[in-house]
Amino acid sequence: EKGGFDHFMLKEIYEQPKAINDTYRGRLLREDAIIKMAGVEDNMKKFLNANRFIIVACGTSWHAGLVAEYIFEDLARIPVEVEYASEFRYRNPIITEKDVVIAISQSGETADTLAAIKLAKSKGAFVFGVCNVVGSSIARETDAGAYTHAGPEIGVASTKAFTTQITVLTLIALRLARAKGTISSSDFRHYLLELEMIPKKVEKALKADAHIKEIAYIYKDVSNFLYLGRGYNFPVALEGALKLKEISYIHAEGYPAAEMKHGPIALIDENMPIVVIATKTGHYDKVVSNIQEIKSRKGKIIGIVTEGDVTVRELADHVIEVPDTLESLTPLLTTIPLQLLSYYIAVMLGKNVDQPRNLAKSVTVE
Ligand code: M6R
Repeated sequence: EKGGFDHFMLKEIYEQPKAINDTYRGRLLREDAIIKMAGVEDNMKKFLNANRFIIVACGTSWHAGLVAEYIFEDLARIPVEVEYASEFRYRNPIITEKDVVIAISQSGETADTLAAIKLAKSKGAFVFGVCNVVGSSIARETDAGAYTHAGPEIGVASTKAFTTQITVLTLIALRLARAKGTISSSDFRHYLLELEMIPKKVEKALKADAHIKEIAYIYKDVSNFLYLGRGYNFPVALEGALKLKEISYIHAEGYPAAEMKHGPIALIDENMPIVVIATKTGHYDKVVSNIQEIKSRKGKIIGIVTEGDVTVRELADHVIEVPDTLESLTPLLTTIPLQLLSYYIAVMLGKNVDQPRNLAKSVTVE
């Protein structure tokens, strides 16, 4: 049932090329230069007339929501707020009929997300679900939705659910951008082409597996990790830190790289490994200067870089390469080494990777 892998988590990490492909299959029609998603087409007016989107989710799904915030605002020019479902539902939030609420949930059973949806519906908002589990409570409770089609995710640590959520949300953003005219038809075609190449590029990113294992071995006994990223890769830094803490029980924090100097920099010494996402698209020079700041404080740098990178390679203690792609699609690639790094550290520490202590696959209590 684990298909020859030691754990479901590793199997699911390796399933991502196929899962992402399954997510866009039948929806991304590159030759016709269209994106077809019934849940979006049938409700186009609601999406286009919305004053703003409010994304509600928990955990890893919330991180996918943060990536979506960048992509919706960037491509479709729609204001987006991303909320922890648990905070949103108890905050007496301002919700109107002009809001579109997008709930993201792998299991479709997360109690806080479900409650947030019910609240939004009672205020007249249009509620759209992005779920993996077909027929789940959230899928049934929402007005419309799009499934991720990732297939069953058994490992408690979410992996393929995250990358497929980002894929679905990217498709939606592109479809809306096309409808609104905020993307040119040539840029739109370029996106479709790049999206179609993602599964192959994920496969390539997975080839760093043995190298990542070596890095895991060096750092497995530390008690703290920092993860830094900017722009589209800030949420990936959060996700990398969550992955590590939930399965290895090593304390880890994710930060926007520029926030480092507002506090976390005080933590840096020769014992602190810092994973920095420094792909060549998107604030590269700024991230490089953040890396220099870390280096002058003797922190250990693990850089996630674009293939062929030279600058970070010279500064960092280790680099892990991912293929080049459009800036907004980099999270689909930079996430991969972070998943593998946390996986190998947890395995080396003898932790129960698929069922970490104190955690459940779906959190059905608030
Ligand atoms: O099923 P959901 O996507 O609603 O679950 C949300 C979180 O409980 C979930 O992502 C959790 O954070 C994972 N264990 C992360 O790996």
